[in-house]
Amino acid sequence: MLNPSKFIQESIQKIKKEIGDEKAVIALSGGVDSSVCSVLVKKAIGNNLTAVFVNHGLLREGEVEEVRAIFEDRLNFVYVDASDEFLHALKGVNDPEKKRKIIGKVFIDVFEREAEKIQAKFLVQGTIAPDWIESEGKIKSHHNLALPGGMVLEVLEPIRELYKDEVREIGLELNLPKELIYRQPFPGPGLAVRVIGTLTKEKLAICRKADEIVREEVELGSFQNELWQYFAVLTDTLVTGIKGDERDFGYLVVLRFVASLDAMTANVPELPWELIRTISDRITTEVSDVTHVSLSLSDKPPSTIEFA
Ligand code: XMP
Repeated sequence: MLNPSKFIQESIQKIKKEIGDEKAVIALSGGVDSSVCSVLVKKAIGNNLTAVFVNHGLLREGEVEEVRAIFEDRLNFVYVDASDEFLHALKGVNDPEKKRKIIGKVFIDVFEREAEKIQAKFLVQGTIAPDWIESEGKIKSHHNLALPGGMVLEVLEPIRELYKDEVREIGLELNLPKELIYRQPFPGPGLAVRVIGTLTKEKLAICRKADEIVREEVELGSFQNELWQYFAVLTDTLVTGIKGDERDFGYLVVLRFVASLDAMTANVPELPWELIRTISDRITTEVSDVTHVSLSLSDKPPSTIEFA
């Protein structure tokens, strides 16, 4: 059984010893793992840790403001709006795997620029146990990371032995807000895996608005505790609809609700019809360019949770 306060005290001692008076940097996404890691390392080395939050333009509605509000006072925090750089690199790219690769590459470029300014020697990562167990232990606990620009950083992973529920316990002990600790997982490539086909600012805005409605209604009805993830996918299928007296072609949005323990498998739970209908009605009414909403009924396997 994990004893959160003991874990925190022991980690602080270990981190202090390892980093000493050097500088460290962490990529803070606002997800629970990197958030807990940032606050833990800050306790050990203070402002020698810089947390870099990169806005890749693929975040959800309100996310930038939320993350900034939580961390700007808590951490030595750097906000980088690189959304134009990401969208430019992604222009015209259709293939989901290519999108992921481009996002990963641009992310490293942006992050490396920041790490260089800081003259960091250590890179803190919020790796947790399933991350390296799933990759068959390929990530060694002590390793250096050479970034493409030539920087070599020593990697420190203070929560690598923990599982998600334990990370949450540590987060609570560190007084992080409950909304952050219990928030649904959100993939690193963000809305890029939920907008099918090529990405544009307009399509991202439609997906973002539909996602906001899903989150609002699920949370209004307090269904979030039953769900691992709940979101909207913007397909690239155009469907006929009626706007006013005229026929109209608009997008098809798919609603995805899944229950899961660890994302390895997932199932689509039964939810009240009223909830689903309200979300669907709101999306077709409030989000222009959407003419049709459908519901995903596929478990994992055979499907994956995300659509791309
Ligand atoms: P799938 O779609 O593979 O997703 O069933 C399993 C879990 O992982 C998340 N996911 C990602 N997380 N980078 C991430 O950080 C990614 O590229 C990525 N793809 C999927 C997904 O949201 C789900 O929780």
